[in-house]
Amino acid sequence: MNTKNASLTVGKSKKNLEFPVYKGSEGPEVIDITSLYKESGFFTYDPGFMSTASCESSITYVDGEKGVLRYRGYDIAQLARKSNFMEVCYLLLHGELPAKKEFNLFVSEIKNRSLVHEQLQFLYRGFPRFSHPMAIMCGAFASLSAFYHDSLNINDEEQRRIAALRMIAKTPTLAAMAYKYSRGKPFIYPKNELDYTANFLHMLFAVPSEEYKVNKVLAKAMDTIFILHADHEQNASTSTVRLAGSSGANPFACISAGIASLWGPAHGGANEAVIHMLEEIGDIKNIPKFIKRAKDKDDPFRLMGFGHRVYKNYDPRASVLKDTCHEVLTELDMQNNSLLKIAMKLEDIALTDKYFIKRKLYPNVDFYSGIIYKAMGIPSNLYTVLFAIARTAGWVAQWKEMIEDPKQKIGRPRQLYTGHKPRNYVPVGKRK
Ligand code: ACO
Repeated sequence: MNTKNASLTVGKSKKNLEFPVYKGSEGPEVIDITSLYKESGFFTYDPGFMSTASCESSITYVDGEKGVLRYRGYDIAQLARKSNFMEVCYLLLHGELPAKKEFNLFVSEIKNRSLVHEQLQFLYRGFPRFSHPMAIMCGAFASLSAFYHDSLNINDEEQRRIAALRMIAKTPTLAAMAYKYSRGKPFIYPKNELDYTANFLHMLFAVPSEEYKVNKVLAKAMDTIFILHADHEQNASTSTVRLAGSSGANPFACISAGIASLWGPAHGGANEAVIHMLEEIGDIKNIPKFIKRAKDKDDPFRLMGFGHRVYKNYDPRASVLKDTCHEVLTELDMQNNSLLKIAMKLEDIALTDKYFIKRKLYPNVDFYSGIIYKAMGIPSNLYTVLFAIARTAGWVAQWKEMIEDPKQKIGRPRQLYTGHKPRNYVPVGKRK
């Protein structure tokens, strides 16, 4: 893949250095600067990874300018409309869509691992009832490494495979337990006759005293949301998983690190903010006031659910979710939902407003997911947990790809040091 070289002149001696340029199957070419420090004594400086490819990967491709997202070459809209989350998990992990037999085996291997160790309930009971479910998820996920010793050897291919299956299989169970615990309700065991997403809704909403029938439209909508959130190349949480895993750390702890990163409001927390914003707007007639505020540089208010660091076009996940949102609201007979009406009007206005057009601010995936969750009766502090369930598939696939890469090294960034130069220790009594 090395097509040409890039040259750089550095230092007082104006030394001319040549670096190989690599071309991937799609996307910008990259300059391999691995030898820069050895050859010149210089580091590169790129906080926030604005121009840095941190790894080689063949899992997910994003073209933000064109609004493209593909898993293993398959367009996200096609997968969302035609596939299902289990098939997408297989695709992310194995690189190809499964044949029927492979699919059935994969599904049964996941189902067989949907229970968590009984002892884990005591870990949950140690948390205050008012804990944020993401706090419980970080702790509970990391604790899996204490229960499943036979899948911790990352150098053993079969143990890696089992760890991957366990993580995807157990995340919904852990998430539903976090919710039930926060409500003081009994934990509901998985029901393996249901598929992955229906089973999650069952564990979330069923109570032992009553029969619970999973609504097929809602289960399908949740499955679509899981597909759309399953992976997004080297975002903050995925990079966290890779960096944690690069030291050889156990996979359960690495995914727990990813959950911690996802929790941040700049990453997984925006869908909750959309709902708060729509509630604050309250009525269509108030929209112009909020649009004006969003454009005002002296006002910190931003239109939540608009704009994206990578997408400078319509977020392809938002296009799919817009339809899903209508399906869910129709099913629940909530077409006249006032939040949706405000959301639609807001979208119309923003898409035709010069300020938003000039800055390429389009609705992102979070714009619709919050409305769907709210309609389903899911409390807002669980929204990021749902994101974590779906993204576990991507984290696990990316972690496996990294471990299986023969070029893999421990991740160790360097720095631009701006602290003190050497100075002598002063005993406490002599300090000013
Ligand atoms: N409302 C109003 N103006 C906005 C918005 C917005 N939502 N987003 C960006 N802008 C403006 C900025 O003020 C800036 O204007 P200027 O050029 O006049 O200074 C310009 O658009 C560029 O914005 P940046 O902040 O430089 O863009 P960046 O790529 O750093 O930010 C981000 C992306 C954080 C997503 C931003 O658009 C935002 O805050 N959006 C709202 C929060 C949100 O919906 N987040 C979810 C992202 S999707 C996800 O994480 C799954």
